[in-house]
Amino acid sequence: MPRALITGASSGIGAEFARQLAPKGYDLVLTARSQSALESLATQLRQNHDIEVEVIPLDLTEPNAPSQLYQQTSDRQLQIDLLINNAGFGDYGDFAEGDRSKLLALMQLNIIALADLTHQFLQPMRSRHSGTILNIGSIAGFQPIPYLALYAASKAFVLSFSEALWAENQAFGVQVMAICPGPTETQFNQTAGFPQSDSSSSAPAMANVTAVVAESLQAMKRDHGSAVVGGWANHIITSLPRLLPRDTLAKVVGEQFRPATTSGE
Ligand SMILES: NC(=O)c1ccc[n+]([C@@H]2O[C@H](COP(=O)([O-])OP(=O)(O)OC[C@H]3O[C@@H](n4cnc5c(N)ncnc54)[C@H](OP(=O)(O)O)[C@@H]3O)[C@@H](O)[C@H]2O)c1
Repeated sequence: MPRALITGASSGIGAEFARQLAPKGYDLVLTARSQSALESLATQLRQNHDIEVEVIPLDLTEPNAPSQLYQQTSDRQLQIDLLINNAGFGDYGDFAEGDRSKLLALMQLNIIALADLTHQFLQPMRSRHSGTILNIGSIAGFQPIPYLALYAASKAFVLSFSEALWAENQAFGVQVMAICPGPTETQFNQTAGFPQSDSSSSAPAMANVTAVVAESLQAMKRDHGSAVVGGWANHIITSLPRLLPRDTLAKVVGEQFRPATTSGE
């Protein structure tokens, strides 16, 4: 049976990937920091499906964590056929006022751990001439986003990196793809520190996580370096950067994201 390793599997999109891959017969390796959430998901999936589920709790902002994860899967002789680099978070607000340790952790998780895990798991996949790496990007990666600047830049990295590796690895039988959702119903907004929206707010509609993951698994069957998922509006949003001058785009997006308390003066 194929085996998938999912980072950030304790909640949201990562947990939903686990729930949707289990009935397809994938054995699973689940990782995140919250051991109890991972264990309870693993128990549920083992009970309902004839699959093996391993749990490896790790904080992927620790610089050695990607190597520990690779080593632990090797030690347990767990061949990884599908790596889903999903763990990530955002940080909303004025960059200059941001918490330095949170900003560094964001770069370590969204960029460095993702690239390091890709590097380590890609090599055995290339030797076997088979395997898939899904890197979870975002529609935020298609344009600069003032007040979500570092997060958007981290997802621009994921997009560029994945598309480049898609082309590099086609001849080696390994698929690398960026999956780019738009706003999706998970813990993401809470962790990022977005203000709670009320029903009268003009915040964009949230896509359902089940639909987003189902669409992502469909997209995985196609041979592309990236896929925008989560509804038609996301395709329009990601097309705008081709139409508008870059400065105009940054200003327009900045007006949408400017916190109520920031005057910009
Ligand atoms: N929801 C959206 O609107 C949206 C849109 C586009 C892209 N995305 C992307 O989708 C991915 C998943 O996010 P989500 O929406 O599912 O949010 P979520 O519910 O907050 O899930 C984030 C996952 O990442 C894990 N994680 C966070 N910090 C970690 C760390 N230091 N080490 C290891 N794991 C860590 C969390 O587990 P622990 O806390 O247990 O460690 C959790 O499992 C992210 O890359 C996000 O950027 C989300």
